[in-house]
Amino acid sequence: MSTVDPPDLPVRATLRRLLPLWWEQRRLVGLGLACALIFTGLSIAIPVLTKFVIDDAIEGTHRDRLLPLLGLIVAVAGVRFFVNFTRRFATARVGIAVEARLRGLLYDAYLHYPRAFYDRHSTGEVISRATNDIYPVRYFIGWGVVQGIQSAMMITASAAVLLVVNARLALVSALAMPAVALLTWYFAHRLFPISRLVQAKKGHLTEASDEAVVGIEMVQAFGREVDVRTRFLGRAEAVRHETMRMATIEAKFLPGLLALPTLGIAAVLYLGGKEVIAGRLTIGELSLFITLLLQLVWPLEALGWIINLGQRAVASAGRSFAWLDAIEPMPQAVPSEPLPDEPLQVAFENVHFSYGTGSEVLRGVDLTVEPGEILAVCGSTGAGKTTLLNLLPRFYDPTGGRLLVGGVDTRHADLSALRRAVAIVTQKPVLFSVLLRENLLSARPDADWDEVLAACDAAGVSAFVDDLPQGY
Ligand SMILES: Nc1ncnc2c1ncn2[C@@H]1O[C@H](COP(=O)(O)OP(=O)(O)OP(=O)(O)O)[C@@H](O)[C@H]1O
Ligand SMILES: [Mg+2]
Repeated sequence: MSTVDPPDLPVRATLRRLLPLWWEQRRLVGLGLACALIFTGLSIAIPVLTKFVIDDAIEGTHRDRLLPLLGLIVAVAGVRFFVNFTRRFATARVGIAVEARLRGLLYDAYLHYPRAFYDRHSTGEVISRATNDIYPVRYFIGWGVVQGIQSAMMITASAAVLLVVNARLALVSALAMPAVALLTWYFAHRLFPISRLVQAKKGHLTEASDEAVVGIEMVQAFGREVDVRTRFLGRAEAVRHETMRMATIEAKFLPGLLALPTLGIAAVLYLGGKEVIAGRLTIGELSLFITLLLQLVWPLEALGWIINLGQRAVASAGRSFAWLDAIEPMPQAVPSEPLPDEPLQVAFENVHFSYGTGSEVLRGVDLTVEPGEILAVCGSTGAGKTTLLNLLPRFYDPTGGRLLVGGVDTRHADLSALRRAVAIVTQKPVLFSVLLRENLLSARPDADWDEVLAACDAAGVSAFVDDLPQGY
């Protein structure tokens, strides 16, 4: 018996599963990476050109170069804008595509999961694993990966330029910089769990308001307004509490994050200023230092952020892949035995069944129902009537004995043929949001329409169908 609650996939296995989905988008990824490379080059070019403006055109003797250099800077900035736009656009599409693929895989799998899966997992969990839970994956793949590589390129290229200009000053001014990445990582590390909690609490809040709206009949009939209101307020308070915790953490970290680069600038102004006074550094070079350092703040922050985002993305992808890989649909016999093309006999032979969570619900049931025979199964609530019926279309398999439909063991029959042969009217009817006609024909699209109309007459549907906006 396959498990319906497998453990999350470990990191490496998750990456192995994620990579092919990412690889499907390799062209856009390539475009994004190319843009990141060009962006880095242009971003370094602008401060370097500015240095020449200051040293040659303003301070130096080449006054005539001021305007051409300025024009060049504006042109480079224009191209950089376009490149940045393309990079963001391309990588966002990669993220959206991977998210859509993952969600598609999950929904597709959901449709074939055994009922035991749905006994084990709540609707909220099933839905959120294919929606909220995979947002970090989109965000990480759609932004984090390429932005991370771009950050690394920016840091390396800037460091190289600064080292060439003045190695000692570069080393001193770089001291405060790794702290920016570290502090951002720690900030994200503290913030993300709480933001997840806020999401969860908001879910609880929605649940409470849903209950009040959907169950308004009960609420009013039994005078439960105060109860419902108290529960709602309690949950609203929980959202407020967690949101305040988030605000506190932001208030603690953000000022630090903003102040750190300023320390680097102060060090450069002090040491660099002395170098300029001593004639070992030009004003232009000093400004190059300051501009590049300021320009490094965001890539460093991004790195800290992305490392954390990556951890979350891998965790949530690991949860999804665990379901995709380990949960198996009802096992199907290959080749399957065909059901005879005639009215079918149903025979339970010493059938045992347990939901796996408690004691046996069915204990050695022997029961034969001939074609055309009408049988009512009676019993107190929880006796196992629905359970007995659930074995017929193979929502579950017996844990002992066997069940024959038309002489064929249900485990050996073709699943869809079996389900076509079994008609079930449940206690809770479900209408799909399509035309009534499609609802009526959902099990047998080729049913004779006159027969359907006759059934509608008998069920009293024809009495109100003309009042429906679109009729059948
Ligand atoms: N999905 C499930 N997971 C675990 N136990 C279940 C599940 N569904 C039913 N049971 C348990 O199996 C037993 C039989 O339940 P079942 O729904 O078949 O009874 P029933 O005869 O149809 O009752 P009712 O008359 O209320 O419809 C009960 O003890 C019930 O708690
Ligand atoms: Mg029942």
